[in-house]
Amino acid sequence: PTRYSITLLPGDGIGPEIVSVTKEVLNLAGSLEGVEFNFQEMPMGGAALDLTGVPLPEETLSAARKADAVLLGAIGGYKWDKNEKQLKPETGLLQLREGLKVFANLRPATVLPQLVDSSTLKKEVAEGVDLMVVRELTGGIYFGKPRGFGTNEKGEEIGFNTEVYAAHEIDRIARVAFEIARKRGGKLCSVDKANVLEASMFWRKRVTALASEYPDVELSHMYVDNAAMQLVRYPKQFDTIVTNNIFGDILSDEASMITGSIGMLPSASLGESGPGVFEPIHGSAPDIAGQDKANPLATILSAAMLLKYGLGESDAAKRIEDAVLDTLNRGFRTGDIYSAGNKLVGCKEMGEEVLKSVDSAVPAA
Ligand code: NAD
Ligand code: IPM
Ligand code: MN
Repeated sequence: PTRYSITLLPGDGIGPEIVSVTKEVLNLAGSLEGVEFNFQEMPMGGAALDLTGVPLPEETLSAARKADAVLLGAIGGYKWDKNEKQLKPETGLLQLREGLKVFANLRPATVLPQLVDSSTLKKEVAEGVDLMVVRELTGGIYFGKPRGFGTNEKGEEIGFNTEVYAAHEIDRIARVAFEIARKRGGKLCSVDKANVLEASMFWRKRVTALASEYPDVELSHMYVDNAAMQLVRYPKQFDTIVTNNIFGDILSDEASMITGSIGMLPSASLGESGPGVFEPIHGSAPDIAGQDKANPLATILSAAMLLKYGLGESDAAKRIEDAVLDTLNRGFRTGDIYSAGNKLVGCKEMGEEVLKSVDSAVPAA
């Protein structure tokens, strides 16, 4: 069998619960396609802070670098919220993304027919939505300098950050987005704040300049405030969205709710080469951690993205995607996507039902 090494970063809160369930699903789907995994579990986030004093230990980053792919749960929690910047779990996640140079974050938001009733939007608005947010992940205000705390000319305390994009950073994420749009519905909407921000004016200029290389893709531009509104007004207008780090963070959480729950949205973070990072878009959900209530499907679907985008194992990926649909068809729902008439289950049981579906589903064509 083909063997892959996967670094598992369970992290904090619901992270360990959703990762342990997902690991089993990966094992089973892989075994049915002659694929085996060596899992290496490493500390990260708050768990790593408690264990080693830093949110991303060197051993964790070097293990991730050597792996074929990284599967991450989530990080963060009340316990570490007041830590200084360098000692926050979130800083560890940013260091991981930067360290692995995974600049392209793909966040698909698909409304499954089974979950139309879970959306907070009206059925006719939500049904059929199938969009992809391509979020720039290693630049922008998250990483821009100068940043920090200080005092202004009046001697008043300030906190400050810098939104900055270099030409190559915009070009490479735009190319990823054009390629994805080309394979999807052929429409790319670049979201920015070019009416106000220089970084966005430059973003729009670079994206526009690339459009001639992709004549088959219809490029449009939208201001982010309007995009936030359009996403809930008429989300079906969107096919592929490309945007900067912070707008992509916010818009993908918004888009998740169209699909029924943030507990459903997976992501893939990819670089030019090297291992990708695969994680749900949600956080560590400290409000439900340790209660076996978390929806593991976003992480399970992230594992499908890992197989497809990270390892090129599309058949095994398809097995997982089909199993998730089958499990939903059989009526199993965690609390976040529950609607009347369905079977309410916890994280573990949802995982077990997905395993049954992987086992019983007909092999992918
Ligand atoms: P969150 O995504 O953790 O939770 C927001 C809400 O959604 C909560 O009510 C939570 O219970 C619910 N939710 C999230 N995932 C769910 C799931 N799988 N199933 C059911 N319900 C789910 O966002 P937050 O509360 O703003 O942040 C909590 C912590 O997570 C913070 O420390 C934050 O920094 C961190 N965070 C980490 C990541 C990451 O690891 N990639 C992403 C976002 C937030
Ligand atoms: C996400 C999270 C992270 C981000 C935080 C935890 C650093 O919200 O993965 O969406 O802002 O990128
Ligand atoms: Mn986020």
